[in-house]
Amino acid sequence: MVPAVIVFGDSTVDPGNNNQISTVLKSNFAPYGRDYFVGGQPTRRFSNGRIATDFILEAFRIKPVIPAYLDPKYDIRDFATGVSFASAGTGYDNATSDVLSVIPFWKEMEYYREYQSKLRGYLGNDKANHLLSESLHLLSIGS
Ligand SMILES: *[C@@H]1O[C@H](CO)[C@@H](O)[C@H](O)[C@H]1NC(C)=O
Repeated sequence: MVPAVIVFGDSTVDPGNNNQISTVLKSNFAPYGRDYFVGGQPTRRFSNGRIATDFILEAFRIKPVIPAYLDPKYDIRDFATGVSFASAGTGYDNATSDVLSVIPFWKEMEYYREYQSKLRGYLGNDKANHLLSESLHLLSIGS
């Protein structure tokens, strides 16, 4: 049993974080998302439909799509079963994320720290620690 999937990385696993920041590197226009469920629409994912981490959540019978940490539609109740901190265009080196003003990798880690503390507030220490230790942590980053 995997209680949650926690994701870090770049465009391969960004489900919409870049849409919430000031960068030109966004995917909020057609043809992105054209095959996303019925009546496809731009999903802020760099894909015609879902991305690999959506399918991973579905494979664990959690839910069909992973939420982006910065998307105001979602909160800690949603993130308790899966969350992505990924930002398209980022890399291991600060210089990579600087090119297109995206979220640097160290900042993804800061968001993760903030997430952990929100999760402890939501579930209590014991449950949150258990969840974090049993969750799948996934990193997909290429630059
Ligand atoms: C990247 O930037 C952060 C924040 O400015 C800094 O703390 C960190 O040391 C930098 N990393 C490297 C390898 O320069």
